[in-house]
Amino acid sequence: MSHEHADSKLDLPDRLRRNRRTASIRGLVRETMLSPADFILPLFVHESSSDEPIESMPGCHRWSLEGLVNEVGEAAKLGVQAVVFFPKIEEDLKSPRGEECANPEGLVQRAIRAVKSAHPNVTVITDVALDPYNSDGHDGIVEADSETGDLRILNDPTVDVLCEQALSHAAAGADLVSPSDMMDGRVGAIRAALDDADFEDVGIMSYTAKYASAYYGPFRGALDSAPKAGDKKTYQMDPANWREALREAEADTAEGADILMVKPAGPYLDIIRAVREESDLPLAAYQVSGEYLMIQSAARDGWIDREQVMMESLTGIKRAGADMILTYFAKEAARKLG
Ligand code: PBG
Repeated sequence: MSHEHADSKLDLPDRLRRNRRTASIRGLVRETMLSPADFILPLFVHESSSDEPIESMPGCHRWSLEGLVNEVGEAAKLGVQAVVFFPKIEEDLKSPRGEECANPEGLVQRAIRAVKSAHPNVTVITDVALDPYNSDGHDGIVEADSETGDLRILNDPTVDVLCEQALSHAAAGADLVSPSDMMDGRVGAIRAALDDADFEDVGIMSYTAKYASAYYGPFRGALDSAPKAGDKKTYQMDPANWREALREAEADTAEGADILMVKPAGPYLDIIRAVREESDLPLAAYQVSGEYLMIQSAARDGWIDREQVMMESLTGIKRAGADMILTYFAKEAARKLG
């Protein structure tokens, strides 16, 4: 019996473990490689001269303009060359139509100018949606049915405001505008508005398949942007659907999107793969606040290894087919790849 192990030999011409034997061989056969150039860092900005840690998103801050410019510089030094901004808007600037979103002197517009003048080579992407500006906390203009009180999010009037918002971002120097609202027809309308105003070099990264997800919870906490009533299920997609994501991708492509996006990322890897297979456009995926927070909190309690799970989650998203990843881990992952 003592020779049992030595004697047993399978007739196996193919032994997959040969390619896993050493770190060097594993490096040679690795199929998916992350690079800091893949990452887009989402940054929060507020109207204040101080930088505030965000309780619902440990490791993230609401930046002052100065803090924001500084943070973009830090990211760029690590090789993260693209950022996207999300503003926390003062309550008294919010309104039903969210007009503040297109104010040339608004917070985001000033942030774009400040960051582009300090870091001209960094790609500045802006979120186009009404929720930070809308007094109802929705991504579009809300109308309440006078009899039932049911809320309706008005598609076409919202698209008009989104075009104004996108134009104001382009005028301030944004490289790409990124509509996250999920209104129908907004990509085509924004493309036409940009072209009419001679902003044909400003690109559109469209939130193509954005799901009505509970994983956005910590983000809404960070910006005080949760809907005051109702939910986002009449415009964001049903988590149960995948064929519909392909229809969204077709529509955005036909309307002139430069980059498509799937959001959230980790729980929607099949959608990333499906869109990747269907479309030749570059594809982004957004590892959202809830995905980030779950990793951060499990690691804080010592349940998982933060760095390893961070890298594994990002590798999975890229392996599924994403070319680029919006992630709150951008700086840390870049440092690790360093
Ligand atoms: C809103 C917007 C949201 C996120 C990005 N843009 C929240 C929402 O749709 O309610 C979520 C990002 C995250 O959770 O990290 N236009």
